[in-house]
Parts: sequence; structure tokens; C-alpha cells
Amino acid sequence: LLEFVKTYFELDDVPVRYRPSFFPFLFECEVFNRLPSATTVHWHGVRLPNEMDGVPNLTQAPIEPGQNFTYRFKAHDAGTYWFHSHMRGIEQIDRGLAGSLIVEEDNPPEVHRDITWFLDDWRLIKNGEIVENFGAMHDVSHGGRIGNLSTVNGVFNGQTQIHAGERIRVRLINIANARIFNLSLGQLPFKVIAVDGQGVTPRTQEIILGPGMRIDLIAHVPQDLSGREIAVVDRYRRDAAYRLHKLSVQEPQRSQKTLDNAILPIAPNPITPIDLTRAVRHEVVLTGGMMGSSVLQQMIAEKAIPPEYGSVSLPGPWTLNGRPVAHGMQGPMLSLDRGVTCILSIVNATAWYHPMHLHGYVFDILQRNGRADGTRADTVLLAPKERVDVAFLADNPGDWMFHCHILEHQIGGMMGYIRVK
Ligand code: C2O
Ligand code: CU
Repeated sequence: LLEFVKTYFELDDVPVRYRPSFFPFLFECEVFNRLPSATTVHWHGVRLPNEMDGVPNLTQAPIEPGQNFTYRFKAHDAGTYWFHSHMRGIEQIDRGLAGSLIVEEDNPPEVHRDITWFLDDWRLIKNGEIVENFGAMHDVSHGGRIGNLSTVNGVFNGQTQIHAGERIRVRLINIANARIFNLSLGQLPFKVIAVDGQGVTPRTQEIILGPGMRIDLIAHVPQDLSGREIAVVDRYRRDAAYRLHKLSVQEPQRSQKTLDNAILPIAPNPITPIDLTRAVRHEVVLTGGMMGSSVLQQMIAEKAIPPEYGSVSLPGPWTLNGRPVAHGMQGPMLSLDRGVTCILSIVNATAWYHPMHLHGYVFDILQRNGRADGTRADTVLLAPKERVDVAFLADNPGDWMFHCHILEHQIGGMMGYIRVK
């Protein structure tokens, strides 16, 4: 596919994978900008010093064409992360300016095969060229730029070979601008072992990935699937489920190592546990978008959000706490003293889904509509009318972006930053 599309680079060229012999380790990456436009690189999900976070005009000056910039920081955490342009993402990420950043655990769960799948979609015309209407108003005010062709690692309708009897780890990363994936793996039994790079007790859950989100899973390939094919289906839109990819199951390998049966949880990253006793709580209300006003009115009537929101005249397609688009980056939406535990109570008063991402931190998802959760993540997907409480210890100073990872919603106003002093 990528041969026909004007992309910035081929995804297969940049498998960034580390096996540090100790933590923290020094991460260094020199970026040469050979694009026709300025750029920056953001290390999604990685806890790092603010000046290495890659947000243009907030944490660094843009890297101009022909210039370079070195990112250098101590990294503490293992897991599945990714990096991407943070400048004009609606075009630069869409054209493929993103890569996976895999940091292996000290003691990774034993598997025969460790696979990374970059999930993406593309909006193409017949001759295979990208439709260049980045940031089209209709996309911004609806569900974002949804493509007409979905790919795994840049390949349309591709396949991955596995062997019967193997235990495989699959790292899923959704790098699409706007598409949400809900994958089914057919008859392949699996357990989720990590969300956004952070280990969870191996569990059964649906594979739902909003843009920016990651899931690691471990699957046991049953012997009786030998010679068969397993369809990987994206059924996010039930009326339009399609086969995204397939797993072609080969005969068992002769020299296959036997692994212990249990899938052990990954050791947690060194993140200070949250103490909620003196937490400060801040509400973040998402508003705007097509068909948003009826949802907004309903939620005011149900007292889910304050009545003032009924009278905010929306300055742009989307807002956080009613703040105009142009003001989104002109001052912090929230200032926190260093050391404070902060609960963000995020409420989605729109008719659309939003994967909300906080830079530089990993938060605990405390509850979703009153139901306790407990998952650690850096991006959380909110359905229309949902309220989700997330908590983090504000121990890393700087200006940290908080935004919807549907990139068209982000530029449409669903962004801001939190200052930790
Ligand atoms: Cu991956 Cu500001 O985002
Ligand atoms: Cu959004």
C-alpha cells in the first residue's frame, strides 16, 4: 500500500525496541527534519521531563525544515509506547509520522513470538493517493477523519504467520487520527496483560482502542487450529464489521520450547501509588460537536453538569470547560502545586466518543459512571454522557497537554494544558 501513498516514511523502517539492562536508562534520539514543514516528536505515554515532551511552542520551539533536535531523557518504565509528530498531526500523523516504542520488561512473560501491530486507516482515492482535505470541517465537527481503508503495519488485508501450540504476545497500538477499533480474534483464546504499557492482572476484556491507546495481549494458539486461518475482525461499527487482518496458523514448530502454563502479570512500573485522602478534584466538561446541544440540555436537566453550560455560546466546534479554541493553549486550564494528588472528573456532554490523553503522566482510572475501575492508563475513552474519574500525583513540573486524541477534535478545541508548578 505505502508504495502508492505519499507518506513521510514507512512504518517498517522504525521499529524502536529497547532491552535496557537496568532502569532508569538513558534514551536518546536525534531527529533530523527533512520534511517540507516544521515538526516535533512526542513520546506518547512516556514519563519524562517536560522539555522533552515535544509540544511545539509549549515545551520546545518547532524543529524547522533542515534542522535537528536531540531528545534525551531518563526513562523509567517498560511497556508498549509510541511516538508521533505533535505538529499539524492531522496531516503529519495521518501520513505516517509515527513509530512504536517498545521497552522490554526486566522479566517479560515468556512467549514464542512478540508481535507489534500498528492499527491505522487511510482516506484514499482510486489511484491510491491520500485525500488531502486534512482538517475538513465536517470531520472536525463529527467523528474526525475516518479513512476508507484500514491497515495493520501499513498493509491492507495482510496476514501474520503464527504456529499451532505457540504462545504469542501481541502489542496493539492505534495510531489512526480518529478511528476506534474493536477487534475480535475469532477462536483464539487470549488474555489482556497490559493497557497503555502498564501491566494489569491478566484478564478477559474487549479489545477496544481509541486513537493513541494500546493493549498488550497474550494468546495461546490451540493445536487444532493448525492449517487454519483466523480472521481479525474490526466490529467497532456493528453494521459494518470487516476483516482487518488474518492470522495464518502453521504446523507446530518442531523445536518449540515448552513454556510454563501460567501467564504471570508484568511487574508494575515504578509509579508512586495514589493516595486519595487529600486529593483535589477538578471537573473537565467536554462540549460541542454535531448533535451536541441536545445531549448537553439532557445532561443539564439530569443535573450531570452545571446549568451554566446551557448558556455558553460555543466559540468553535469543541471545548474543554467552555473555553474557546483560540484560548485552549493561551494559558493553563488548570494549575496544580507540585505534590498534589489530582482527580480529574471528566464528563462527556457530547454525542461522540473521545479518547482523552494526558501528557507526561500515567493516571489511575478510579471509576467510570460510578463503577470502580483501577486500570492505569494515559488515554481514556469516554462514551457519550459518560463520566470518568482519573487520578494522578502531580509530581513532575511543567506544562502538560490534556487533549482528545481524535486529532480533528483536538484542533477543533478539545485541548488544553495543565500546569504543575
Ligand atoms: Cu499522542 Cu498530545 O499526544
Ligand atoms: Cu474527541
